[in-house]
Amino acid sequence: MNFPSINPTTTEAWKKLTQHFSEVKDLHMVDLFNQEENRAHKMKITWNDFQVDFSKNRITDQTISLLLQLAEEVGLSEAIQLQFNGEKINQTENRAVLHTQLRDFEIMKPEVKRSLKKMKKFSEAINKGKWTGFTGKRITDIVNIGIGGSDLGPKMVTNALHYYKNHLKVHYISNIDGDHVSETLKNLNRETTLFIVVSKSFTTLETITNTNTIKDWFLKGATQLDIENHFVAVSSNLKEVIHFGILEDNIFPLWDWVGGRFSLWGAVGLSTCCSIGYSNFKQLLEGAHEMDVHFKNEKFSNNIPVILAMISIWYNNFYKSETEAVIPYTQYLKDLVPYLQQAVMESNGKSVNRNGDKVNYQTGTIVWGNVGANAQHAFFQLLHQGTKLIPVDFIGFSESLYGNENQHQILMANFFAQSEALLKGTFLENVENPYKIFDGNNPSNTILISKLTPKNLGALIALYEHKIFVQGVVWNIFSYDQWGVELGKKLANNKLKVSNL
Ligand code: F6P
Repeated sequence: MNFPSINPTTTEAWKKLTQHFSEVKDLHMVDLFNQEENRAHKMKITWNDFQVDFSKNRITDQTISLLLQLAEEVGLSEAIQLQFNGEKINQTENRAVLHTQLRDFEIMKPEVKRSLKKMKKFSEAINKGKWTGFTGKRITDIVNIGIGGSDLGPKMVTNALHYYKNHLKVHYISNIDGDHVSETLKNLNRETTLFIVVSKSFTTLETITNTNTIKDWFLKGATQLDIENHFVAVSSNLKEVIHFGILEDNIFPLWDWVGGRFSLWGAVGLSTCCSIGYSNFKQLLEGAHEMDVHFKNEKFSNNIPVILAMISIWYNNFYKSETEAVIPYTQYLKDLVPYLQQAVMESNGKSVNRNGDKVNYQTGTIVWGNVGANAQHAFFQLLHQGTKLIPVDFIGFSESLYGNENQHQILMANFFAQSEALLKGTFLENVENPYKIFDGNNPSNTILISKLTPKNLGALIALYEHKIFVQGVVWNIFSYDQWGVELGKKLANNKLKVSNL
């Protein structure tokens, strides 16, 4: 079975969707709700601790049915099978795409099991004080040095699961900004700090430069021999890591079948695993795996990643909407959007199709957003009364973690009020002046999860990973390479050579 390569605009479904769009594009969602009593119930998927309400979209039953026909026609079912079977679907890099293997305990490859075991042992040793710094003191701080997928994923998860963390303070250094490195080191003690250098390639300029700076700082108060207690690496490039001076025993592996932006589930998540402990980390993986099973086996009409991906395609390719906002109603998820920006835009920001031809339709959406309620007091004005159509994903949790019911009720009242305001506007009201009119009809999905647990977070991240995959399949692009970042790197290196830096 070959990975499908079908121009979506040539499908029957696309033609029908084009016609259908011209018929429904001006419908107001308020009318749709009035016409269909059970719309809210019908357009909702309940799965484990998740309730995904997609009723507040500019869609009808026919829209969904045509979008799902499109998914079938472009070969999504085959594509899903091929991905999970480990076929080399990342054809431009000749690699399989198997981050889902990192969280499937049943069919886990032996090398993944070994790596997890090593992570467990290491994180326990750090936490119990069995692994100490060079003067015998317990490790109190961990610094993760990495960029892109070697930073955004683990940082987002570590911060999202702050409630579950232990005594360790975890810091993330990514930018090639010496001031940030100095600011971070300023408050750290060499004797009690562990550095995790995360770089799949181990050639990334930012990471290697920052690591060199940090190593120099470390050696001002310690010896070369002490490096082994304080520097570990996560990489697929063993040779470079050893050459750099990190002990082979201190290297955690990464494989070419795991893309950087999908790698938080393995050793790239070592900082997270140390911070929340192995058992919470395992639950994160289990939650993601449950979402994998849902995605792989559930029929498209009840399949959360498929439905959300196809609705997003509806806006991107028919309404010509350019961006979508993600608004989590919890401070813990403040790093979700930057993480998604890499996952989504590095994956689907492509303009050449799987046959090597330029596409003649829009691909990757621009993702942006911030946590609610803060976002309401920043850019929501534009969502409510601006000229652009911006679909929103609202993410909220029924229960708070510390049980402050009063504040949680206020938070969630805002969460529900915003999607209602976007939907209804002042459509049915008499408004005294034009500046106070809200047209409404602004689409949103509501992802309501019972509680922010490691398991539910794992499932939420996996949901977005699969949404990315579905969209890449439909747009007929290669989602798992990132050639678009290479030219800038080359030019920066050339400039450095010229200026002899
Ligand atoms: O430049 C983009 C990129 O290659 C990302 O895809 C990746 O996550 C990041 O750089 C870091 O790469 P590495 O882990 O090899 O240092």
